[in-house]
Amino acid sequence: MPQNPQIHLVSRPTGEPSADNFKLITLDTPALQDKQVLVKHEYMSLDPYMRGRMNDSKSYTAPQPLNAVMVGGTVGEVVESRHPQFAVGDKVVGMGGWQTYSVVDADTPGLLRKVDTSHVPISHFLGAVGMPGVTAWHGLVRIINPQAGQTLTVSAASGAVGSAFGALAKARGCRVVGFAGGKDKCDYVVNELGFDACIDYKEHSDYLSLSKALKDACPNGIDGHFENVGGMVLDAVMLRMNEFGSIAVCGMIAGYNGKPIPMTNPSLILMSRLKVQGFIVSEHPADWPEALKELGALVGSGKFKPRETVAHGLANAPEAFFGLLKGKNFGKQVVKI
Ligand SMILES: NC(=O)c1ccc[n+]([C@@H]2O[C@H](COP(=O)([O-])OP(=O)(O)OC[C@H]3O[C@@H](n4cnc5c(N)ncnc54)[C@H](OP(=O)(O)O)[C@@H]3O)[C@@H](O)[C@H]2O)c1
Repeated sequence: MPQNPQIHLVSRPTGEPSADNFKLITLDTPALQDKQVLVKHEYMSLDPYMRGRMNDSKSYTAPQPLNAVMVGGTVGEVVESRHPQFAVGDKVVGMGGWQTYSVVDADTPGLLRKVDTSHVPISHFLGAVGMPGVTAWHGLVRIINPQAGQTLTVSAASGAVGSAFGALAKARGCRVVGFAGGKDKCDYVVNELGFDACIDYKEHSDYLSLSKALKDACPNGIDGHFENVGGMVLDAVMLRMNEFGSIAVCGMIAGYNGKPIPMTNPSLILMSRLKVQGFIVSEHPADWPEALKELGALVGSGKFKPRETVAHGLANAPEAFFGLLKGKNFGKQVVKI
């Protein structure tokens, strides 16, 4: 059996994570038991939720244990199988973690799924046609549930979730306005993703200034907002929300390293009679097949061209992860193993 380089979480950060929270080690891969398969990872996913798992604090799920392989989505190929439904050469998506190989109990439902890579590049099953895409779909369809012609906004618009949100919302005939950090990201959001406008929030020092820019981009107000960041962007959006609008609270990345992100005017939830709903995509397994079908069709047909930032080599995963938490990624962040 092959040697398996892997990255363990060995300590918990206070504030920003650093390289000494992780350790790269190499172990032997155990021999397969009946109904197990050995997967060689081609790409692994880096996602903002991993920062939360590094803490030992109240959350919607258990923390990442210390001295164990970091959790994470992976795509790769079956290289050995003792399960009748998986053959050597099958392309699969799973939660193999920050390592080169994973041994998977393929009989356990939901652990490993075969994917068809004939029209969609395999890495996109970690992004647009994977968990981040389904996240965008759930917030858009189940929480905001917009009508054609309505105006929607989304923060971190050039990222994995935000870009999928834009593609799905445009397909429903909505006006979509994004927020992103920097001109390059905003140009991409408008010119390549087809958003109607994108606001560079870094050009604004406070939420009132940002809200003015938002008024120009959304002359009819905002009917639905998809929040990925929290802080100044959410404050600015709240001022422009139409009565009975909906806010899908997907993420609050601006606060993941522990910085407080208070909401300036929560009374607007009442004044504007807003629906504000948080959600966790893994708690909605029934949505995944429909969402993945729609996302696969958008990507497979070339209507949605997701962008990726690729880090090369397992050893570079921690640095790429730190970058993701600072907006250095441009599109879905993956690591090529
Ligand atoms: N609820 C769920 O089930 C669920 C599932 C998946 C993801 N999420 C959440 O969805 C959000 C987006 O995830 P993603 O995978 O698509 O990541 P992503 O957007 O591909 O990457 C993160 C982006 O967030 C922005 N960002 C990073 N640090 C920031 C900071 N301190 N302040 C403001 N913006 C910052 C950066 O974009 P800019 O350069 O444009 O600022 C960065 O590129 C995250 O909050 C994540 O936790 C939630």
